[in-house]
Amino acid sequence: MNLDQLAALRTPDGAAALAMAAELADGDPLAAAAALRGAGTPPGLAAAALTQAELRRRAAGKFGPDAAGMFFTRTGLEQATRAEVARRRAARLRAAGVRTLVDLGCGLGADAIAAARAGIRVYGVEADPVTAAMAAANAEATGVADRFTVRTADATRTDVTMIDGDPVDAVFCDPARRHAGTGRRVFDPAAYSPPWEFVLDLVARVPRTVLKVAPGIPHAMLPAGAETEWVSVAGDLVEATVWAGPLAEVPRRATLVPRDPSGTTDELTGTGTARPPVGPVRRYLYDPDGAVVRAHLVAEFAATVDGSLADPEIAYVYADAPAPTPYARCLEVLDTLPFSLKRLRAALRERGVGRVEILKRGSALEPERLRRDLRLSGPESASLVLTRVAGAPTVLVCRPVA
Ligand SMILES: C[S@@+](CC[C@H](N)C(=O)[O-])C[C@H]1O[C@@H](n2cnc3c(N)ncnc32)[C@H](O)[C@@H]1O
Repeated sequence: MNLDQLAALRTPDGAAALAMAAELADGDPLAAAAALRGAGTPPGLAAAALTQAELRRRAAGKFGPDAAGMFFTRTGLEQATRAEVARRRAARLRAAGVRTLVDLGCGLGADAIAAARAGIRVYGVEADPVTAAMAAANAEATGVADRFTVRTADATRTDVTMIDGDPVDAVFCDPARRHAGTGRRVFDPAAYSPPWEFVLDLVARVPRTVLKVAPGIPHAMLPAGAETEWVSVAGDLVEATVWAGPLAEVPRRATLVPRDPSGTTDELTGTGTARPPVGPVRRYLYDPDGAVVRAHLVAEFAATVDGSLADPEIAYVYADAPAPTPYARCLEVLDTLPFSLKRLRAALRERGVGRVEILKRGSALEPERLRRDLRLSGPESASLVLTRVAGAPTVLVCRPVA
């Protein structure tokens, strides 16, 4: 998509093409293109409208009903924050007294729109002209164009103390973690854009800086003194947020957001340095949420269920009782076996197990290969946990606790 195509989509003819594409988007793409051209839509506009219709449909999972009026690039959509996560971050910024925010690398505007909706004046800065134009269009589509404006500029050359004569309260930066040309994921923070060095310097220069980073970021790279919050949505670990300066409330936080926005969000906080007690395998096993594990809050979680580890390096927590908890899945341990394919096969045959789910931590075994090698048959199901107990490869045969 280029700027001319985006401008064409925003004309009355473009809007009509988009509406028709939205209706045809479920069917055969060639037939949809032919139908649009048959209705007199120029081929370039028809192709752009069909691409947008497909992206809008995919975006509904992240943006809800807003997606139907917004504009997307494929890479921009992949990198955009989910609406519920952006809304929570914006609410915290507003509650901390932030009134003006610069969003460096605002992308399609997911975070900026949420902040504007929370009542914050947002100045977006975006290096890519098409993405910047889409962000401006998205501000209009979501009714916040009076509070979210976008300029096409390089974040590293932007004044982050005053913007358009407005003193800046806080800076948000969600650096691109995909290669601008290929769209491939970038794992090395040094290759983020804007670069990590610039981002860390922001934290040093701007008192109230907020960063969105990959949830797998090594703890050693996190800015000293800042809070880092790992966020999962319905059990999927989606991102980490760094809250620097006076915005930091605790060293580490795990935030568990439900899929249903009307559900309860649970938070666990701590230092990230406590070590849980270590003991034997006990009757119940808890598999903590990814946000709890990545935040290094397993000790804090274990304390809530009176639990312990069976291996100091592995984040499965064992306890004597099945306490209801939002922070982990609970399984009842039926059998603990030193790992041996033969013994496991015999144990499962004895129980009539024909179907298994396989969980693993601290095991190099490939679950799908193991499943094939087990040659299961029988009416029962079981959960297999591949792990280590006091350093020894172990398999636990379990059943989920409702
Ligand atoms: C991860 S995306 C932001 C997504 C956004 N937070 C959202 O949820 O929609 C990062 C954006 O930063 C932009 N970017 C990368 N380097 C930049 C730079 N030096 N200056 C301004 N923007 C930059 C990229 O073009 C990309 O759109």
